[in-house]
Amino acid sequence: MAEILERPVSSPLHGRRVGKPLAKYQRVLVDTLLPRLAVDITAPIPDATALFARAPDDVWLEVGFGGGEHLLNAATLHPDVGLIGCEPFLNGMARALADLASADLDNVRLHCGDAGALIDALPPASIGRLFLFYPDPWPKRRQHKRRFISDAMLVRLARVMIPGAELRFATDIDDICGWTLARLLRSPDFTWPAATAADWQYPWPEWVGTRYEQKATAEGRRGCYITAIRR
Ligand SMILES: C[S@@+](CC[C@H](N)C(=O)[O-])C[C@H]1O[C@@H](n2cnc3c(N)ncnc32)[C@H](O)[C@@H]1O
Repeated sequence: MAEILERPVSSPLHGRRVGKPLAKYQRVLVDTLLPRLAVDITAPIPDATALFARAPDDVWLEVGFGGGEHLLNAATLHPDVGLIGCEPFLNGMARALADLASADLDNVRLHCGDAGALIDALPPASIGRLFLFYPDPWPKRRQHKRRFISDAMLVRLARVMIPGAELRFATDIDDICGWTLARLLRSPDFTWPAATAADWQYPWPEWVGTRYEQKATAEGRRGCYITAIRR
């Protein structure tokens, strides 16, 4: 599995897929645990709840989970929810697998690849909450088309999200905050019911932060937090 993932692949992904070589135990986890937890997206998924050994009350999706800190925390706090985590960067996936191997969780499934491909394989109205934290900013104008949120991506997300489902989004880059809000506000499928003018300054009650957020905070940047609702 590790060798397959390390071969150059043709995909819409632009970020890194592998960093420094995996430790031996991480490679073993990628070869043994990842195949057991991986979601098969080679065909449309008829029922997202059937991905889990125990039918969950709801299914949540985290896009680009990095090292998986938030994913594992959410899975631990919500044992009756099924969590699907998506991360194409193998080293991040390996870190999450190491934590999963020592956790007693049966409510996590994974996709080591592009979230777009996973989203398109999911059935309509199957996701009750979607997390997207600190997506790659692609700051140069010519790179903007690589940004994860676009008008077209919101249409794809809207298809799989249950009406009333939350899209939780965080970024430390002002331009990405404005970019994302502009697209959410012009989308017919989402609303941003910010309760106060300062709403975006506060994370969610269970928020544990992420590895990327720690780095941003250490470098003096603050997160902005958006909760949009699928209409
Ligand atoms: C800046 S990092 C943030 C990671 C994590 N969310 C955090 O806050 O620590 C952005 C992550 O998005 C992942 N990513 C980039 N493109 C992606 C895609 N098309 N689908 C899923 N994840 C993607 C990257 O591999 C990277 O781990």
